[in-house]
Amino acid sequence: MCALGMRIGFLIQYILRSLIKYIIMSTPQDLSFLEKQDEKIYDAIRGEEQRERDGLELIPSENYVSKAVQEAMGSVFTNKYSEGYPGKRYYGGQEFTDAVERLAQSRAKELFNCKFANVQPLSGAPANVATYFALLEPGDTILGMDLSHGGHLTHGHPVTYITKIFNFVRYGMKDTTTGEIDYEEMREVAKKENPKIILAGYSAYSREVDYAKISEIAREVGALAIMDAAHIAGLIAGGVHKNPFDYGFDVILTTTHKTLRGPRGGMILTHSDSEIAKKINKSVFPGFQGGPHEHQIAAKAVAFGEALRPEFKDYTAQIIKNAKAMEEVFATNDIRMLGGGTSNHLILADVTSLGINGHDAQELLDEVGITLNKNTIADDPNPPMRPSGIRFGTPALTTRGFNEEDCARTAELMIEALKNKDSESVKEKVRKDVRELADAHPIPDSFV
Ligand SMILES: Cc1ncc(COP(=O)(O)O)c(C=O)c1O
Repeated sequence: MCALGMRIGFLIQYILRSLIKYIIMSTPQDLSFLEKQDEKIYDAIRGEEQRERDGLELIPSENYVSKAVQEAMGSVFTNKYSEGYPGKRYYGGQEFTDAVERLAQSRAKELFNCKFANVQPLSGAPANVATYFALLEPGDTILGMDLSHGGHLTHGHPVTYITKIFNFVRYGMKDTTTGEIDYEEMREVAKKENPKIILAGYSAYSREVDYAKISEIAREVGALAIMDAAHIAGLIAGGVHKNPFDYGFDVILTTTHKTLRGPRGGMILTHSDSEIAKKINKSVFPGFQGGPHEHQIAAKAVAFGEALRPEFKDYTAQIIKNAKAMEEVFATNDIRMLGGGTSNHLILADVTSLGINGHDAQELLDEVGITLNKNTIADDPNPPMRPSGIRFGTPALTTRGFNEEDCARTAELMIEALKNKDSESVKEKVRKDVRELADAHPIPDSFV
């Protein structure tokens, strides 16, 4: 009788906890005005909400922001022009824009332990380009990672306009099985090409970088050491990855979304309030952009406030643990991972051994509710639109409260689907399991 009573007690507790979790999490955004005025956009937003809720988001550059960040992003600051910087604007009425921009700057500086932050770049690419223009003359050289080894388009892909203005030269990985960067090659190319910037930071690279070595090479050739931390900014801010400023880097560029879990946006940081900082401010405005997006800056400030809380450290540590759990499942299944695995939030896996290319893998996984992206791998024999790899990561799943076990299960489901690409029954089963995992981990409204 007593045991039965206890069981009933546990059951009631479980039901109550689930109910509370359901009520406080994943509240749909209030869109009542939009619903009345513009049904098509309203439907698209509700559709996206459902897609994000029901599927598993593994694109390593994506995440879920808190409702507080969304509210700041959707605020009246979108109405306001504020060309210039706090205290030095061109238009009147800046009492509140100045307050939010100053807060965003000071929180960013605290997060990255530095003395200067420009929080106006509209996104990562504009932050990078504004920095190049701030610090270089046309024709100057930038030494960055080979794009097929993980560099970003803005690091000098021939399709971008900046390659018409600056000269890009390359270093790469020494060994794709360990991911080690070829620092000797970097030094040799730097000595030969005289770059003004040596650029670290990548879009599809899964290992940590030897910042001290890069700074040393930069000093040897009189270049600036710049880190594009777009992907791992949250890991640095959370203290689970090294801070390049502690190893002599001059500038950090970053997006504010991705692991940092803020609104889409960019920012530029320097470790001192120096000439570099002045040049960056002039380059962002008026050199490159017009009026800053103060609604976005307010949302950045809110996200930085969240990232300053102790819970964010736990979140970023869990991102890495979860990626390691997925790595283990891929390793057990003998699926090649570039760099031999991961030390951060992402994995780049060569899926050709499963008889599928990255493009088809992406489409197949989309069908079962797992979203990730196809990706070129180092020295890929396959064309960019049908590359050999898939790139996936754990920032968004970790925000949903996934732990190592859940992430290992996700990896198993991915592999099950990929190994049985022609079986409708397996796909159906995986789709159901994916939905169960998603339902068990609602997207939280708040992280504080
Ligand atoms: C390393 C790196 N830098 C810059 C960017 C560009 O950021 P955005 O897409 O916000 O312009 C990205 C985007 O994925 C990135 O991975």
